[in-house]
Amino acid sequence: MTEQTTWSRVDQYLGGKLLGSDATLEAALSASTAAGLPPIAVSPLQGRLLELIARSIKARKVLEIGTLGGYSTICLARAAGPDGRVVTVEYEPRHAEVALASISTAGFSAVVDVRVGRALDVLPTLLDDDSGPFDLVFIDADKSSNAEYLDWGIRLSHAGSVIIVDNVVRGGAVADPGSPSADVRGNQVMFDLLQRDERLDATAIQTVGSKGYDGFVYALVR
Ligand code: SAH
Ligand code: DHB
Ligand code: MG
Repeated sequence: MTEQTTWSRVDQYLGGKLLGSDATLEAALSASTAAGLPPIAVSPLQGRLLELIARSIKARKVLEIGTLGGYSTICLARAAGPDGRVVTVEYEPRHAEVALASISTAGFSAVVDVRVGRALDVLPTLLDDDSGPFDLVFIDADKSSNAEYLDWGIRLSHAGSVIIVDNVVRGGAVADPGSPSADVRGNQVMFDLLQRDERLDATAIQTVGSKGYDGFVYALVR
C-alpha cells in the first residue's frame, strides 16, 4: 500500500469516527466539483479543526484569504455564529459565484462577505471599513504572496488574534533552498518573515492525510 493510500484510509477512518455525515459541507463540495473548481478545499477533518479553533478563541470576526467554493468559509461561519462575520477574499469571479451559492444554501449569507479581487488589492480596503480587527485569519490563496498576506493579517488583527496559513510544507519542498516553485519560494519568504517578526509567536506543523503531505502555520499575535 502506498503512503498516500494509508493516509487517505486513516482520514476516512477518523472522519467516520469524528465527523459523521454533513449534508451542508457535502453539498458545498459537490457544487464545487460540479462547477469544475479544483479539488483543493481543506479536508473535512481540517475544516473541523478550523471550526474548533475559531470556537475555542470565540472568534466573531474572521478573515479568510482564498475562498474557492466556500468549503472552509462555511466551517468558519459556523464558528463565528449568527452575529459574527466572515470576510473572505477571492480572485476568481467564477469561484466566488460558486461559493456565494453554497454559502446561501448553507444559510450563511448574512454572516459571510465575499470580496472579489486580488487579495493584495482588497486587503488594504479592509483597513478603511469597519470589517476588522479580525480575531482569526486563515490564509489559503496563492502561496507566492504568503509573506505579504501574513503582514496584512497582522495589520488587520489585534493582540491575541490567531493566524493560520495552509500549505506551508508542500510535500517537503519548503526545506529545498533552490526550489524553482513560486509557491515554495513564497512560503520560504514567509518563514523568513516569521523568523524575525516580533509581532508574532508561531509554530508550524507537518501534516499527512487525504490531501497528501503538507502543513500549516499557527501564529498568535503578540
Ligand atoms: N480556502 C478554500 C480553498 C482555497 S484554494 C477551502 O479550503 O475551501 C485557493 C483559492 O485562492 C482559489 O480559489 C484561488 O482562485 C484563490 N486565489 C489565488 N490567488 C489569489 C489572489 N491573489 N487573491 C485572492 N484569491 C486568490
Ligand atoms: C493545493 C492545496 C491547497 O490546500 C491549496 O490551498 C492550494 C493548492 C494543492 O494541493 O495543489
Ligand atoms: Mg489550502
